[in-house]
Amino acid sequence: MAKNTTTKSTSTSSAQKPTTTSSNNASVGRLTLLDLLRVLGGMLLLSSLMSYLSTSGTSLTWGYNPWWTRAREWRSLVKGEVRLTDEQLKEYDGSVPGKPIYLALNGTIYDVSASPKTYGPGGSYHFFAGHDAARAFLTGCFAEDITPDLRGVEEMYIPKDAPSTDTPSDSEDPVVAAKRSAKAHDKRRAPLTKAQLKIRREQELRNARKQMKEGLEGWHALFRGDKGKPYHKVGEVVREEGWLERLPRRKLCKQAEESRPVRKEEE
Ligand code: HEM
Repeated sequence: MAKNTTTKSTSTSSAQKPTTTSSNNASVGRLTLLDLLRVLGGMLLLSSLMSYLSTSGTSLTWGYNPWWTRAREWRSLVKGEVRLTDEQLKEYDGSVPGKPIYLALNGTIYDVSASPKTYGPGGSYHFFAGHDAARAFLTGCFAEDITPDLRGVEEMYIPKDAPSTDTPSDSEDPVVAAKRSAKAHDKRRAPLTKAQLKIRREQELRNARKQMKEGLEGWHALFRGDKGKPYHKVGEVVREEGWLERLPRRKLCKQAEESRPVRKEEE
């Protein structure tokens, strides 16, 4: 009795076999959306793993770090932009418990709470917290340039004339001094005309403004989080119209003045 049942079941399964094979063939021929997602997911996972290994664990995206890959950017987008006056910004210097640490750069506010040892009270760069110190970011004068006023900063990139080499010093041998002076005289070209001076000034100004822009952009990139630091933009500083004109004009600080390049004689 039992033998009969087995035989029947075997014959039934062999009868069904061709049907099963043909249905398998059909699903191989037709890739479903789920299959496609599986393949793409696998490739993504493999790429992330290889990136992780070859960047010593610093990046899953081969160093590509646009804002939309960062969760904190999406969080602040959902929360909405922060808008603060310079006065209100001062409360965000890390000294008020529970408040984040912000700093601003040329009107853009960044959250730097991730580095309390650098920007919090007692930190090496605490003076930047709660302020827009765009000027000091370029001049390096941390005591006097904690201000967003960038007027005149371009001067620090404009070469100054080399001091004259004609005047002999008290200790210099008169014969050596005369020879050096004659040599300098030979090398000197005819002085530039007014028009040439104007063109040179315009070129140097253009170049200086470019350097200023690049200098600031480097800091913006750091605080945006593009360089891997866990900082991000949170909003903008709100200022009344004409705020800049109301501030007194400042001179280039001593350190920035001294760091100016020197113009070569033939320039
Ligand atoms: C224009 C001049 C300078 C500016 C605007 C500036 C600004 C900064 C800022 C904002 C940071 C923190 C970066 C971060 O959050 O990751 C930093 C870090 C640092 N800077 Fe400067 N810096 C300047 C010049 C210098 C100089 C001349 C030195 C060395 C003598 C120096 C030494 C350091 C050191 C050691 C750190 C890391 C330590 C820390 O995070 O506390 N910096 N700098």
